[in-house]
Amino acid sequence: MTFEVPAAAYDAFMGRYSIPLAEEFAAFAVLPEGGRALDVGCGPGALTAVLVRRFGETEVAAVDPSASFAAAAAARFPWADVRHGHAEELPFDDHVFAATLAQLVVHFMTDAAAGVREMVRVTRPGGVVAACVWDFEGGRAPQSRFFAALREATGSADDESDRAGAGRGQLGAFLREAGCTDVVEGEVGIVQSFDGFDDWWQPYTLGVAPAGKQLAALDQEARERVREAAQRLFPTGPFTVGVTAWAVRGRA
Ligand SMILES: C[S@@+](CC[C@H](N)C(=O)[O-])C[C@H]1O[C@@H](n2cnc3c(N)ncnc32)[C@H](O)[C@@H]1O
Repeated sequence: MTFEVPAAAYDAFMGRYSIPLAEEFAAFAVLPEGGRALDVGCGPGALTAVLVRRFGETEVAAVDPSASFAAAAAARFPWADVRHGHAEELPFDDHVFAATLAQLVVHFMTDAAAGVREMVRVTRPGGVVAACVWDFEGGRAPQSRFFAALREATGSADDESDRAGAGRGQLGAFLREAGCTDVVEGEVGIVQSFDGFDDWWQPYTLGVAPAGKQLAALDQEARERVREAAQRLFPTGPFTVGVTAWAVRGRA
């Protein structure tokens, strides 16, 4: 699916989770000491920032099919090799990266098996290939409570649970099928704080990702019903939300 939305809207909606998640995911991936690293589906650069700190800006490449996100990442990291492109046809030579990572991307690929095969192709033998996807199946994604409210208010919701990688063991299967060895499956998670319900709700009104698009497609009255249903799921005043993603790492 396309993410042709302003990077600022994405950061308000998902960056709030994906920026802190990137630290946890990079730790899970057990990054090598040197070489070059690739961020597949980089968005505005949540994980790219961690790779830049770890490998140095000139040693990092990033790719995303969204023109606005690729431009935002390129502006943020002018010395990195940021390209416009898809995982399924990565615009890089074979075996050039010591580590190739995709944070919250496999479930948006048109052909996830092909995308993961490409991640392995561009990674040097023995290099790290890693991916993570929110646990939509288990209802532990940032959007899971939104989807519950959407279903309660409208009778239906695409809760992303049927997407590639969103269920237990699926990411591991993709890496093994792509030829990875030493495949390790696990979870990564973060806890995010909110000032109150409006702080949590407002990003859903920006039309970002499947959640925001589903809300935007409703009329004003239905949107208000979703908002009320969501509000009932939270306490008044500040609160925290814990979210979890399936994670996998392996060797090319
Ligand atoms: C949820 S965002 C994750 C962005 C970033 N990795 C992060 O953690 O904030 C999903 C990203 O996947 C990108 N994407 C969608 N389809 C893709 C594909 N086929 N190949 C690579 N990236 C894709 C989108 O443009 C978007 O930037």
